Amino acid sequence: MTRVFSAMQPTSDSLQLGNYLGALVEWVKLQETHEAIYSVVDLHALTVAPDRDVLTRRTRVTAAQFLAAGVDPDRSLLFVQSHVPQHAELAWVLSTFTGMGEAGRMTQFKDKSAQVGESGTNVGLFTYPVLMAADILLYDTNVVPVGEDQRQHLELSRDLAQRLNTRLGEGTVVVPEPHIVKATAKIFDLQEPTKKMSKSFSGPKGLIEILDDPKKVAKNIKAAATDSDTVIRFDPEGKPGVSNLLTIYSAFSGRAIDQIVADYEGKMYGHLKVDLAEIVVDYLTPIRDRAMEWIESPERLDEVLAQGASKASAIAQVTLDRIYDRLGL
Ligand code: ADP
Ligand code: NA
Repeated sequence: MTRVFSAMQPTSDSLQLGNYLGALVEWVKLQETHEAIYSVVDLHALTVAPDRDVLTRRTRVTAAQFLAAGVDPDRSLLFVQSHVPQHAELAWVLSTFTGMGEAGRMTQFKDKSAQVGESGTNVGLFTYPVLMAADILLYDTNVVPVGEDQRQHLELSRDLAQRLNTRLGEGTVVVPEPHIVKATAKIFDLQEPTKKMSKSFSGPKGLIEILDDPKKVAKNIKAAATDSDTVIRFDPEGKPGVSNLLTIYSAFSGRAIDQIVADYEGKMYGHLKVDLAEIVVDYLTPIRDRAMEWIESPERLDEVLAQGASKASAIAQVTLDRIYDRLGL
């Protein structure tokens, strides 16, 4: 069966709506047709130097939200990256296959290091895409669901895979293909609707967080930035704020954007926001409740993650043995 791998960093106390609509919904669908492997990539999160307790907590709440969203541990593998030591081992090998210039062209590193300044950055942030390539290649992954922001990184994974196969022989690793998540699943910041909603970069009022208090979710939606014109129309260029709300409305109600626009003809933004707040809160409530159940049963959560790590490690070791053997290690 075709194998899919995807992962998220434990970089916040709650996932945001973009993580859910842009990634998790797709993960849950993909496990119907693929052999799915999903990971909470805590080693990646070290690049932002989190406190010990914060990192531990965020790793668990992130896994809990994957499960709450519908990742099924009886069907898919779910594990924490640091529990499978092969990730760090293969990352080292791949770093010796990666050109300095090649790594230096990664735009996400350029953006992130520009934000924090040279003194605030670290080598881990620079080699982050190499660790990501290891995450993917260890599992003979066929497809990787990626948003636009991760395309360049996946391209590097593909280049590295091809290079390994050239230097070490065909069949060393599988060259992964992107599975492009449709653009309609892209969610923007509620306050700055030309920027993507992001747990790392959005301010508290720009976010809709899965585990947030419903009152705050509703409040943020009602306070979302819209333009001074009052027409409810889908126009991502001209009216990014209203268009973002319509995208979210459509995703959660299952109704086409055109229908929604027709329904709100002649109405004000306030109407749309009040209704949307209710729709989003209703949708997220059971997800939040299920996540809280997982968070409040740590033994059950640890058991799922331990089983996932053990199965993942068995797969990863086969790949690593093959690569080490071909390298002469
Ligand atoms: P964040 O920016 O919230 O830290 P990540 O960069 O860790 O998110 O991305 C985790 C996953 O969520 C990726 O698959 C990414 O494509 C997806 N994602 C993140 N933000 C959005 C968004 N605003 N809209 C759609 N998908 C998103
Ligand atoms: Na991020």
